[in-house]
Amino acid sequence: MRTRLAVGVAVLALLVQAAPASAAGPLKSITKRYVGSAVAVQHLNAEADYRAVLTREFDSVTPENEMKWGTVEAVRGQYDWSGADAIVDYARRTGKSVRGHTLVWHSQLPDWVGGLEARELRKVVKNHVFTEAGRYRGKIRAWDVVNEAFNEDGTRRPTVFQEKLGDDYIADAFRWAHQADPKAKLYINDYNIEGLNAKSDATYELVRSLKRKGVPIHGVGIQAHLSLLYGFPSGMKENIARFAALGVDVAITEADVRIPVPVTPEKLDAQAGYFEQVWDACHAVKRCVEFTTWGFTDRHSWVPGVFPGEDAACLFDAELRPKPAYTRLNP
Ligand code: XIL
Repeated sequence: MRTRLAVGVAVLALLVQAAPASAAGPLKSITKRYVGSAVAVQHLNAEADYRAVLTREFDSVTPENEMKWGTVEAVRGQYDWSGADAIVDYARRTGKSVRGHTLVWHSQLPDWVGGLEARELRKVVKNHVFTEAGRYRGKIRAWDVVNEAFNEDGTRRPTVFQEKLGDDYIADAFRWAHQADPKAKLYINDYNIEGLNAKSDATYELVRSLKRKGVPIHGVGIQAHLSLLYGFPSGMKENIARFAALGVDVAITEADVRIPVPVTPEKLDAQAGYFEQVWDACHAVKRCVEFTTWGFTDRHSWVPGVFPGEDAACLFDAELRPKPAYTRLNP
């Protein structure tokens, strides 16, 4: 009798764990958009419950760090594709699409790249784009080709690429990526370009000029790292619509909404409102094709490490229970 009860309780626990987060079905089933999350390979490999929620709720994955230059080629000529390969393989097995992140970015860049002179740097960037985009040719739906190229005032960020190669490094990177993987959708990606402001104006002008020159650019990635410490960005729908009117797709690529600690029910409710506004802004424009969050569980998030005093920015809590923000999107 005792054992039977124990077995019964165990089965019940399993059932409860396996129960979907929403009666309507997983997030990926309630919209025509790709619904994605950043994924970290170490958790994917080590935590069955993490893997289960990712697999259940999302149909797109973005490697959180595994495809960054500093990860794949920390030492010149010595490649480590293990994390990236594992995620691409997981996606193939589970039928998910992959957002590649990211080819040209000033951050998480190997030290050896910083010291090169212009001619050498251009060769090395070209080789990097061909090597990485070529390795995953046909397996990546969309690439963040260039990440975070602008300052807040809309001028170019003075990265090693900008300083040594000049304005055209962006067009070059897109042309090389297109040659390396002709079917991948190629995006420029940035933060603080959710609403109408100097930085999104600059992104708009860049995309317009690249399109006019026939450079293969297919989308604008809006990171959407938001915080309750600031008001919701104004004009997000209008901004998405104006990008789309240029003839490119738009993706929400890294959404999260930070909460200043302590977390309270009121703040969780406000967070739900922010997520809902991002979701709605994307759904208001046909060419907004993707809603991706930067991780899905407060168990593992970049937020507390980078923004002291803020936390709990994801749709699921640390125990993988859906938070009010999840329920707001998927009641
Ligand atoms: C972050 C990762 O989440 C962290 O694990 C890492 O330490 C730093 O980078 N914008 C981006 C992402 O485009 O690549 C960043 O990811 C978050 C901000």
